[in-house]
Amino acid sequence: MNSVTSFADHLAAAAAATDDVLLKTLATVESDEHCPPRLVAATRHALLGGGKRFRPFLVIECARACGASDLSAATAVGAAFECLHAYSLVHDDLPAMDDDDLRRGRPTVHKAFDEATAILVGDGLQALAFQIITTPPVPTAAAGPLARLLAEASGFSGMVGGQYRDLNAIGLDAAGVRLMQSMKTGALIRAACEAGAITAGAAPDVCAGYSAFGARLGEAFQLADDLLDVEGTAEETGKRVGKDEGGGKATIPQLVGVETARARLAETVEDAAGQLEALGADGGVLAEACRFVAERRS
Ligand code: IPE
Ligand code: IPE
Ligand code: MG
Ligand code: MG
Ligand code: MG
Repeated sequence: MNSVTSFADHLAAAAAATDDVLLKTLATVESDEHCPPRLVAATRHALLGGGKRFRPFLVIECARACGASDLSAATAVGAAFECLHAYSLVHDDLPAMDDDDLRRGRPTVHKAFDEATAILVGDGLQALAFQIITTPPVPTAAAGPLARLLAEASGFSGMVGGQYRDLNAIGLDAAGVRLMQSMKTGALIRAACEAGAITAGAAPDVCAGYSAFGARLGEAFQLADDLLDVEGTAEETGKRVGKDEGGGKATIPQLVGVETARARLAETVEDAAGQLEALGADGGVLAEACRFVAERRS
């Protein structure tokens, strides 16, 4: 088996394990007689049937790299990250934000259902993330620190703050764009890596090392996303492309040009790989994840 196949296998396995947790969780949600069926249907639309599950993959593989043998807790934590991420996408696509009609190859939630439902799907997914991360098999001792990590990564100084900066991004310089990107996308990816280490019971300095790795990887991930918006196709990405320029978004490719942005992506991924080396986790599937982020077409 070559290493690319090995990465694809690990990503597919993480996706399958994540979907298993998500399906069981949704079944429990649905079994409550007070839960509105149409809201759950819209939540299923947002959460299932697409998406790379890259953040759950990072939680699981960082936990494995830190020595975890039973990965059930990391899988649950990864599912919580996916709920948070899916919520961010549903709200990102709303007319008041990026106003997109295609996501993961299907109509966005507000198109398939309606805008108010999409807002509530996002709200519900955010709550569900914290429900999952504070419920067994996540160990009770780790639940508090993990919930706090997820809250900080997704809140005012993380994803939400970054999304707010994105709304007002016209005229930002490169440093401003980097800050915005490190918050809106980088924070959750950084936290996913750190959460894997925490779930495995790694020492604080090791957790900090995975956080530093995740920060560089997260930066690269959004840089690749912005390049795909310029160079990719809707068929490959499952979402509209060419939206950033049309929407007046400040991005690194728009500021420095596609070629320089691509060179910066390669450098950033190289840096992330260097962080892995410092952790003694180079050569494995996480190193392949770095290459995937640099080369991804979806
Ligand atoms: C897209 O994230 C939005 C960003 C934060 C860049 P992904 O590229 O991980 O989207 P899915 O989950 O695979 O659909
Ligand atoms: C979104 O960035 C980041 C989020 C926190 C959802 P984009 O707006 O570039 O993501 P896409 O291109 O719509 O997936
Ligand atoms: Mg956006
Ligand atoms: Mg968008
Ligand atoms: Mg984008």
